[in-house]
Amino acid sequence: MIAALPRLGVNIDHVATLRQLRGTPYPDIVEAARACEAGGAGQITIHLREDRRHIHDEDVRRLRSSLKVPMNLEMAVTDEMIRIAGRVRPDWSCLVPEKRQEVTTEGGLDLKRAGRRLAKGVGALQKLGVKVSLFVEPSLEAVKAAQVLGAEAVEFHTGKYCLARQREGARAVKQAASELDRLRKACLAARKAGLGVHVGHGFDYANVREVAAFVDAEGGPLVEEYNIGHAIVCRAAFVGLERAVREMKSAILAP
Ligand code: PXP
Repeated sequence: MIAALPRLGVNIDHVATLRQLRGTPYPDIVEAARACEAGGAGQITIHLREDRRHIHDEDVRRLRSSLKVPMNLEMAVTDEMIRIAGRVRPDWSCLVPEKRQEVTTEGGLDLKRAGRRLAKGVGALQKLGVKVSLFVEPSLEAVKAAQVLGAEAVEFHTGKYCLARQREGARAVKQAASELDRLRKACLAARKAGLGVHVGHGFDYANVREVAAFVDAEGGPLVEEYNIGHAIVCRAAFVGLERAVREMKSAILAP
């Protein structure tokens, strides 16, 4: 069997952040999604935060009716968000922990502590026909817990590896190597457990390549989906969104 090519989910929250900085009607989120699709995005990812600091409900609605590729809605497990998912019916819902003061999602879900509420949320979303991925730390315990919860996929938080890889010095090199190994083992365990293997957070055009080089037992790509935002939108300031997406896709497909 020929392994499917990995999908690049482009997170366009930052486009809404730019708009919110001035409260202007631009940049338009749908136009941004179109440019990502033209550049080869396999999915559009957005995070509807409780405080609506970037993506708004209207963005979700407009994207849902205009996207040609699947929508991945990142959200906290709250009654409000599950109600919204019921109306919007994204293809995927990525469940994340959310703290009001954080600049970005700081860590994976604590699957033990989230317990009953999370199990209820996963069940409710799946009943609506929405596939669920759980944003978790790359650990074997998280894989086991995600399997018990019956999620379709895990999205491993790659922040620790990515940050270490961006720093200089012997200590950082050692830490990046150890985080990369932890991530690879977690990806293998998730695949073995029958879970979809997604990754995201902190990737840039260089550090993504080592993860994209992970292979499964058949020599095919181990990671099925990448969700990347910050690096792509930053690159887009110089080369435009379509080309920035195309370059990231090349980095993933030809590491
Ligand atoms: N995946 C999840 C669950 C996230 O919360 C984020 C950040 O919004 C990303 C992926 C993308 O991270 P980055 O913007 O660092 O590429």
